[in-house]
Amino acid sequence: MKSSPVVDHVADHLKDGGALSDVDQRRFLVDYHTRYAGADDLFTVVSNENGEDSYAWLMKKVADQAALKPGSTIADIGCGSAYMIGQLEKLNIEANLVGVDPCEAQIQLANQSKYLPTTRFVEAFADNIAVGTASVDVITSHYSLMLLRPFSASLDEFARILVPGGKVLAVLPAPWSPAGNAIPAFSKLVTERMRRFYPSHPNVGVVNAECSSPDALTDAFADHGFQVSHDVKEYTLRGSAEEILEFVKLLYWFDLYPREYRDDFEVEMLQIFKDAADDKGIVVWGRSICFLAATKLA
Ligand SMILES: C[S@@+](CC[C@H](N)C(=O)[O-])C[C@H]1O[C@@H](n2cnc3c(N)ncnc32)[C@H](O)[C@@H]1O
Repeated sequence: MKSSPVVDHVADHLKDGGALSDVDQRRFLVDYHTRYAGADDLFTVVSNENGEDSYAWLMKKVADQAALKPGSTIADIGCGSAYMIGQLEKLNIEANLVGVDPCEAQIQLANQSKYLPTTRFVEAFADNIAVGTASVDVITSHYSLMLLRPFSASLDEFARILVPGGKVLAVLPAPWSPAGNAIPAFSKLVTERMRRFYPSHPNVGVVNAECSSPDALTDAFADHGFQVSHDVKEYTLRGSAEEILEFVKLLYWFDLYPREYRDDFEVEMLQIFKDAADDKGIVVWGRSICFLAATKLA
């Protein structure tokens, strides 16, 4: 457990039922990803019915929909420590890859992992990216679109850097479509416990309201000159009760949970996972994931 003055600061603002301002949300995310630099590929353990993770889903969409040519440019927004960039490098498409993330610690790790000379990383928030106007063919975003704040200014920046007809291909959580095999007792416990401290949970402002429904997403992109389609799939994590607990402890909401009460909360979560285990001790925990494709109209 890693303590943080930033979490203490933002917690104070959430305790009266408020939501994070754009400034505090950005401070919280950069602080979180500095403390847990490199841990953002945790979603590689969550897979669909074919055993594929959501990075593989996004990769397939890039291969099918992006019409890339040698020399095309792909910008991966919220690239973290560059797991997705590493996958894109394997496509062997002679594209220029640009990873963008505001967290210095993540960008340092990303720079250590790149192997193509044409790949580069830019330390920036998505609303102010130091790349040229109409210089990017495809924007990818794996598990970061729902975090970009201010969202409208970030979409303006997407529209600026993309060529006409350029695409945003993104994977993000789909809270509007709860996974069929989610564990209801777990969701209920998390809501109850979080609301003891943060009455606005789950709307504390880490995730953008525009990413909370398909219509809101479509409208937000349409307002910036994009045509949108989306698709939702169920992804699951299978493991022992202890493994599922270690996974959920890395989610943002748990990082906001007051440290002095975490031990009891962990015991309660673990018990729910044990109760949900099959006779081999395996728990299936589900998530609904959205794939979004947005095309910039010429
Ligand atoms: C859940 S992680 C996902 C990282 C990576 N895409 C992956 O899936 O492996 C979210 C990333 O978004 C970045 N991020 C947060 N706010 C951002 C913003 N406003 N603009 C760009 N990136 C942002 C964080 O620093 C973090 O690295």
